[in-house]
Amino acid sequence: RRRTAILISGRGSNMAAVLDAAVAADYPAQIVLVLSNRPGAVGLERAASAGVATLVIDHKGYKDRAGFDAALDAALEAAGVELVVLAGFMRLLTPQFTLKWLGRMINIHPSLLPSFKGVHVHEQALAAGVRFSGCTVHFVTADMDAGPIIGQAVVPAVPGEGPDDLAARTLAAEHRLYPAAVALVAAGRARLDGGRTVYDGDAWTAVTLT
Ligand code: GAR
Repeated sequence: RRRTAILISGRGSNMAAVLDAAVAADYPAQIVLVLSNRPGAVGLERAASAGVATLVIDHKGYKDRAGFDAALDAALEAAGVELVVLAGFMRLLTPQFTLKWLGRMINIHPSLLPSFKGVHVHEQALAAGVRFSGCTVHFVTADMDAGPIIGQAVVPAVPGEGPDDLAARTLAAEHRLYPAAVALVAAGRARLDGGRTVYDGDAWTAVTLT
């Protein structure tokens, strides 16, 4: 089983979905560490109660991003981490850090990328009047929310709904998509090759959700 760290900043509901899936003996990722850049992250309690090691590296204790990322990297190496799963981790990572973990670090974002990067994603989607939104899992590269796509789930927009409604329905789709995507990458059945995601056989169907 691939030694995996989940990085969070807050609620940690995607983390919880992956932790729940990883309870199965045949799940290819073993969650060895949950790490937060925010001391008060609610997800830390959930991880601890699941018996997973937790660690806080408060970004406020570092004078720049390079210093914070060096501390992050040291903690991941110390735990023997092989795969890094970003789950609502709201810090930009330095190009140096993303390069080191290239192909071994993934993120989930609550839109159908490449549309609506960054924050206030659901407001952006509703303002654009899209009929379909959704979520995307991708390999992390130096460019925010722009790495090679691993999987997506579609969420139809409902006329008249607000961003919170769309966020809630998208989150439910995230909780289906992320455990499947983490499993695929941990098993090596989806991998980064020449700037693209390549799949073993029909493995892509597990992360192409409508
Ligand atoms: C999720 O919707 C995730 O996709 C989003 O933050 C939320 C975290 O919720 N991530 C981003 O916007 C990253 N750019 P969670 O802490 O309950 O998993």
